[in-house]
Amino acid sequence: MPRKVNCGIDYDDGYDDDFDDYDYGYDVEENVKEPSLQDTIKRGVWRCSVCTYDNDDTMSSCDICGILRSPSVSNGTYDEKRTAPFKFDVPSPDDLVSNGLHSSAQHSKAKIFDFKSSRAPSRGVGKNEAVKVLSSAKSSDSSHDSTGKDKHDGIIFSKNLEINTSSGFKASDKSSASMAKGRVEDSDGRSVSINLCSSGQSSSSLMPKERTDMVEDGSSLTHGGEGHLTSNLKNMTLGAKSGNSKDIKANSRAQYKPEKWMFPEKAEGSLTQLNLAIVGHVDSGKSTLSGRLLHLLGRISRKEMHKYEKESKLQGKGSFAYAWALDESAEERERGVTMTVAVTYLDSKRYHVVVLDSPGHKDFVPNMITGATQADAAILVIDASIGSFEAGMDGTKGQTREHAQLIRSFGVDQIIVAVNKMDAVEYSKDRFDLIKSQLGTFLRSCDFKDSSVTWIPLSAVENQNLVVAPSDLRLSWYHGPYLLDAIDSFQPSSRDFSKPLLMPICDVIKSSQGQVSACGKLEAGAVRSGSKVLVMPSADIATVRSLERDSQTCSIARAGDNVAINLHGIDGNHVIAGGVLCHPDFPVAFAKHLELKVLVVDGATPILMGSQLEFYAHHAKEAARVARISSLLDSKTGKVAKKAPRCIVAKQSAVIELVLQESICIEMFSKCKALGRVFLRTLGRTVAVGVVTRIVEELV
Ligand code: GTP
Ligand code: MG
Repeated sequence: MPRKVNCGIDYDDGYDDDFDDYDYGYDVEENVKEPSLQDTIKRGVWRCSVCTYDNDDTMSSCDICGILRSPSVSNGTYDEKRTAPFKFDVPSPDDLVSNGLHSSAQHSKAKIFDFKSSRAPSRGVGKNEAVKVLSSAKSSDSSHDSTGKDKHDGIIFSKNLEINTSSGFKASDKSSASMAKGRVEDSDGRSVSINLCSSGQSSSSLMPKERTDMVEDGSSLTHGGEGHLTSNLKNMTLGAKSGNSKDIKANSRAQYKPEKWMFPEKAEGSLTQLNLAIVGHVDSGKSTLSGRLLHLLGRISRKEMHKYEKESKLQGKGSFAYAWALDESAEERERGVTMTVAVTYLDSKRYHVVVLDSPGHKDFVPNMITGATQADAAILVIDASIGSFEAGMDGTKGQTREHAQLIRSFGVDQIIVAVNKMDAVEYSKDRFDLIKSQLGTFLRSCDFKDSSVTWIPLSAVENQNLVVAPSDLRLSWYHGPYLLDAIDSFQPSSRDFSKPLLMPICDVIKSSQGQVSACGKLEAGAVRSGSKVLVMPSADIATVRSLERDSQTCSIARAGDNVAINLHGIDGNHVIAGGVLCHPDFPVAFAKHLELKVLVVDGATPILMGSQLEFYAHHAKEAARVARISSLLDSKTGKVAKKAPRCIVAKQSAVIELVLQESICIEMFSKCKALGRVFLRTLGRTVAVGVVTRIVEELV
């Protein structure tokens, strides 16, 4: 298969230089130039607002980054095979058969969160083998630590944050065509009026008229004036108003009374679910390690393994035999590079582990982000070979530090550092100690506690220290746990069973019979067959026809479960990735103007007023502009160090306001951690991590 050179994105940028040692088996295409502006502005194409790729006019979302096309130029139709901005690259049954996976009921996996793939799911929901993840919203996490700093799961901010909200509000929005007013009370009992406007659209069908729950967190709404939210559904290709649209009257979540069926009955001997992200620099051996574990635990049969070995050898890729179990697409195999997150399962003594094997290559960090946001814990894989560990730690080209920082920001506070390829350094204790010392310092700076980090020297290829203690005498100096043991030592995550339903949609599967399924992990609450759900942002009410978890039909899904929810009573085009399924009385916010607390990561370029960035939150991605840098925070005291600074630089924390190109489903971090974490990237690097502190509810 010829190597795909996708439209100006250079997969090999900075890549061949560092990893010449490996035979990737693909030819670097020379003379592949980025097209000039004139070359790319053609008739019959539309330009992506995020990556600037010129897409064919027939595409409803960007072929490169998945961003939905603005409806002003949309052809108004959804291609059944391209329903989601972020691809859920589920292999078709035929793919599975040809890859030798179909025959194994045990070893089923899904490839998810593909921002690049142009292939589409081609199967019905009923046959969906997409096995997905659950994770927790870690409600037990304290947002304050004893040091007097606000901690947002890995991002340390000032406790005494002063937020200047006044300038972000305008007295009115003249462009608004219709307006609904609500008067609500904030947590201090103050009355705050909120106007929600919709730009010429019927507000009754599309947007909440009142959002009392938005002001639960008094700390974030200190103004007494009026705020306006102009609902913007431009990023949806909405058809005619469905009869099921709901006039939403949002309630305070505190009023919610969970029902008994929403809580799990702990069956004797049942395994707790653990979402485990496998992250780390490109080629560190993540997929090989995952494949080897699956094989050792019987999830890949001998016959299948034999097939992988044979086929990979034939393709001159013998060393990737175990990785082939995870890297299932022809392109991934040919290049020996994981491109999308692969999801698979294995059982340890204590956990039903959902393995999220992430791509390490820098071009696929967006895929890694959307996959790993669901993680409860992570394995950070390090290549111990001489030069490779160092390459991973490189501030500009390496992914070790970026991945570590990102997973900490996702709320993951317990990790295993798997120091892999120890065979390549003769299982040297000195090498292991050096890696531990250098990386340990960095992990501490990311706010990982020493007690929550387990260091394990291992070799995936030589099967040392994976599911039993090492047999190689050269590792006799090591007395800690083996990998599977360490996985069992992770603390289970708490789940928000008692809260109203919230499920960010990571993917949508449509069948040729017109059935539509929303896939994702329940962040809060529960849902069962027959439940009514509110589908945001269209605000349609749909009924749950059936549920599928781990490739099996189930009747109830609870917080933490990763499911495909088959919906009926809704236009399939109204179910979009980046949307959220909610309890009908508790809609998620939908906004484009946000206030964030951010930390600029080490080595990042400064953020200025007006900086154009890529904004990521759960499964949503949007182009964004820094509308205001409200304040710089003192790193020691956490107090406002300077109001309205001109820019923020690496390692500085600040309060900023961001205006997204299109509205997205979002929530304040104080309400829902999973929906309130954000990442800002530019030029292929993460520049800041942060949380949503306020939804400004106004277009600027
Ligand atoms: P990306 O997903 O593309 O980031 O790569 P990866 O981290 O999944 O690495 P992968 O599993 O594809 O392995 C890359 C190369 O490292 C392959 O050639 C593997 O055989 C090799 N490799 C993996 N584990 C080991 C190991 O324990 N020892 C040695 N010597 N090589 C290993
Ligand atoms: Mg891989």
